[in-house]
Amino acid sequence: MLLDGKTAVITGASRGIGLGIAEAFLAQGAKVAICGTSEGGVSKAKEHLQGKYPNGEILALAADVSKSGDCDNFIAEVIKHFGRIDILVNNAGITRDTLLMRMSESDWDAVLSVNLKGAFLMSKAAVKQMIKQRSGSIINMSSVVGQSGNAAQANYSASKAGLIGLTKSLAKELASRNIRVNAIAPGFVKTEMTEVLKEELRDAILQSIPLKRFAEVKDIADAAVFLASENAGYITGQVLAVNGGLYI
Ligand SMILES: NC(=O)c1ccc[n+]([C@@H]2O[C@H](COP(=O)([O-])OP(=O)(O)OC[C@H]3O[C@@H](n4cnc5c(N)ncnc54)[C@H](O)[C@@H]3O)[C@@H](O)[C@H]2O)c1
Repeated sequence: MLLDGKTAVITGASRGIGLGIAEAFLAQGAKVAICGTSEGGVSKAKEHLQGKYPNGEILALAADVSKSGDCDNFIAEVIKHFGRIDILVNNAGITRDTLLMRMSESDWDAVLSVNLKGAFLMSKAAVKQMIKQRSGSIINMSSVVGQSGNAAQANYSASKAGLIGLTKSLAKELASRNIRVNAIAPGFVKTEMTEVLKEELRDAILQSIPLKRFAEVKDIADAAVFLASENAGYITGQVLAVNGGLYI
């Protein structure tokens, strides 16, 4: 198995892509620690994962990635429980889509705080342990719109482009400590985040995807397994686009 004996932290894993990554990591032999905003959400996710992997080691706690105290406490609990952190997936993300003229300061701040500041805070908390271990792999969940831009998503696209800058900078800064930092830029993935989009918009997006299908959560989880594993041991500072050719 590709992640045997590894301990992985995955943020925003009560559903969607994060939950899919937790599942894929467990299937590859990793122990997983997941967080999400609500106690109920993470317990339900843990139940689901434990049902699929009865022998899997899973820690599930509520933590808001936009709060430094929550990040520090969560990481401290993970270390207390598992003794190490090999993989960190900064996956938690939100949208507050609207055109610039209607976008409020709080729409901007909320999205930047969770999507970009959250990855900074969680990386800062986890990297201390990775430095002690002299190894680690960090994966930041960017987006195709961080590369291409998108109307009515100025806040979200800026946060996802920011994650690419964060990824490249940390890759340079942490390489000497044997810590790799990469990003995944998914296209349109079938999750509750995209369920809210109007049918006409979904149809228009589908037409523009060369592979003519939306991504399944598994498409993204498989990329995360690869980047987290030793198979990607010489890859750092990269953005792996998993977008069906939507942006080339
Ligand atoms: N679905 C897509 O098409 C798509 C495309 C590109 C990128 N992404 C990115 O992938 C990631 C996951 O997306 P998804 O579609 O699974 O979303 P989702 O809305 O289904 O799930 C988001 C998860 O993040 C958690 N979360 C939200 N705010 C949080 C906070 N402050 N602290 C901790 N956890 C928090 C939620 O509890 C939930 O578990 C996001 O970063 C998203 O931007 C998604």
